[in-house]
Amino acid sequence: MRQFACFLLLVSSMTAFGQKFEGLAPTPPMGWNSWNMFAGNINEQLIKGVAETLLSNGMQKAGYTYVVIDDCWESMARDTAGNLIADPAKFPGGMKALGDYLHAKGFKFGIHNCAGTQTCAGFPGGRGHEFQDARTYASWGVDYLKYDWCNHGTANAEETYKTMRDALHAAGRPVVFSLCEWGNNQPWLWAEKVGHLWRTTGDIRDCFDCQGVYDMGWKVILDKQVGLEKYAGPDHWNDPDMLEVGNKGLSLGESRAHFSLWCILAAPLMAGNDVRNMSKEIRDILTDPDVIAIDQDPLGKQGYRFIENPGKEIWVKELSNGEWAVCVLNGGDNEMEIHVNWNNLPFLKGTFRVRDIWTRKDIGTTKEEFVGQIPSHNVVLMRLAPVH
Ligand code: GLA
Repeated sequence: MRQFACFLLLVSSMTAFGQKFEGLAPTPPMGWNSWNMFAGNINEQLIKGVAETLLSNGMQKAGYTYVVIDDCWESMARDTAGNLIADPAKFPGGMKALGDYLHAKGFKFGIHNCAGTQTCAGFPGGRGHEFQDARTYASWGVDYLKYDWCNHGTANAEETYKTMRDALHAAGRPVVFSLCEWGNNQPWLWAEKVGHLWRTTGDIRDCFDCQGVYDMGWKVILDKQVGLEKYAGPDHWNDPDMLEVGNKGLSLGESRAHFSLWCILAAPLMAGNDVRNMSKEIRDILTDPDVIAIDQDPLGKQGYRFIENPGKEIWVKELSNGEWAVCVLNGGDNEMEIHVNWNNLPFLKGTFRVRDIWTRKDIGTTKEEFVGQIPSHNVVLMRLAPVH
């Protein structure tokens, strides 16, 4: 009897620890993050202005619900009790009030910190304070934590992120846990049980295919997603980093192609531009319901590269109800005439109706070859539905 009681105790303690909050991200999370556009130039007014805009311009309605405050929101030091505190000059009302404000407007509140001793920008990191910080976040009403990887010393990634997962769980408030470990330790192999999304690469930059030491253009990141598709699914997504749509280094076509391919990847869609000052064209890209529907398809399958020829790639994503999304990318420097013979896509069984998503036109069936002109660094995005 006593042995049985011990066994029960063991089983219950095993289930009390070692779990993430389940079911928080059945489809890839969507929202806005301050980093790509504003880096350290953030404050309460900006965040409130962004939230107002997301509400008035249709983005919240389109699905962008998480407002995530990235690095540089903190004071340079913890308080005497070791608690994290917001920079009182940037966030005079404090984080609890900001969380309340966002919740009242129908948003979810996201925040950034780091698994190391300091964030990448040098603010206090979470190492050694995980359970205390998780309680702080819960008391502020935080719904989403992006957890970075700077200054981690010799820490083991899997163990470190598991500690924070357990701390969040112990604090009791459901939080989407976004691992930002840059793919250094292949999180796709172990993070499904740890968080809801994990970065697969270093940082994105607003260019097509430039390559820096720590950051790179979206096409370079896209190439690094090949083969990762099998690791993603509901509640556990590969994160090829936040959107650069609308930022100044991308042409309109490059923004459209970037958005299309991030949707094919079932990527988390975190807008990273100044939504208060964007063109109608950019807003139309970010809010296109048919493109977003590809990202948010309930089947939850990440798309993959099916054909790669010089300058021309075909990416495909299986959708629910036997439908498919097909994205043809012209990665070359010149406009190209592109032919797609549907017989070369053997996973298409039977005939499909073909719709061009960006032009919103039905363009025939898979019985005919697709022929299209695609400008440089641009795409044609199609949705295929079986003809019954
Ligand atoms: C890292 C992350 C970025 C951003 C910065 C903030 O570089 O990968 O997304 O959060 O830190 O310092």
